[in-house]
Amino acid sequence: MVQLTLPRNSKLVTGKTWPKPEGAAKLKKFKIYRYSPEEGGQPRWDTFWVDLTKCGPMVLDVLIYIKNNVDPSLAFRRSCREGVCGSCAMNIGGNNTIACTKGWDEVAGNTITIAPLPHLPVVRDLVPDLTNFYAQHAYVQPFLKTDTPEPEKEWKQSEDQRNELNGLYECILCASCSTSCPSYWWNGDKYLGPAALLQAYRWLIDSRDEATGERLDDLEDPFKLYRCHTIMNCAQVCPKGLNPAKAIAKIKHMMVERVS
Ligand code: SF4
Ligand code: FES
Repeated sequence: MVQLTLPRNSKLVTGKTWPKPEGAAKLKKFKIYRYSPEEGGQPRWDTFWVDLTKCGPMVLDVLIYIKNNVDPSLAFRRSCREGVCGSCAMNIGGNNTIACTKGWDEVAGNTITIAPLPHLPVVRDLVPDLTNFYAQHAYVQPFLKTDTPEPEKEWKQSEDQRNELNGLYECILCASCSTSCPSYWWNGDKYLGPAALLQAYRWLIDSRDEATGERLDDLEDPFKLYRCHTIMNCAQVCPKGLNPAKAIAKIKHMMVERVS
């Protein structure tokens, strides 16, 4: 049965408020989601005041500043710091995005809230459990599948064929899109979600791939593909400006075309 309210131990409570730094020139308030499985208890909002003149321009800079100078126990993922690895995705000011390319001055309001990507189990603080997300990515077999013997050099593509991959290959697998999708919230165990389906289309449309029929068979199911209801949150939040909903619509079109 669908559970419509959070279990008691998942409800957020007010946590610690850290003192304001003395002599700050440009103060900003950040409310950050905290949860520690070792400590137990309910997740909480901790409040931090940061002097923005002391850190870089991005939300990730603020988190690194807090970790280095205020609370070293704050946990979050990051790697490249330039929008290519996808690991720093989180919910900032109510929208999913990546923290390393989101400027704190782009977030409206006196207080900036920072929470983990929604509707995923939380490992700790801002670190969500992406096990299911990666399993769904693996399910679409995101690699070239061919029957033709391998050429001596590269698999060739015309310029037009290569252009078909634009708007698809740029995905950094940050999971912002899937975790912003209400269909994915309700059926994340059965619906593959926008990110995995964008990848599925990326290989369906690749002129070098020879497993199109097999790939479509793998998506022919009431849930895996067809739970997309064109809500479009995915396209709105994607930090790389991609449109997973459009890719999903194109897969649906391929499904129709092969039976007609
Ligand atoms: S489509 Fe965009 S939002 Fe979705 S995983 Fe890829 S980069 Fe992230
Ligand atoms: S740290 Fe790599 S995308 Fe943000």
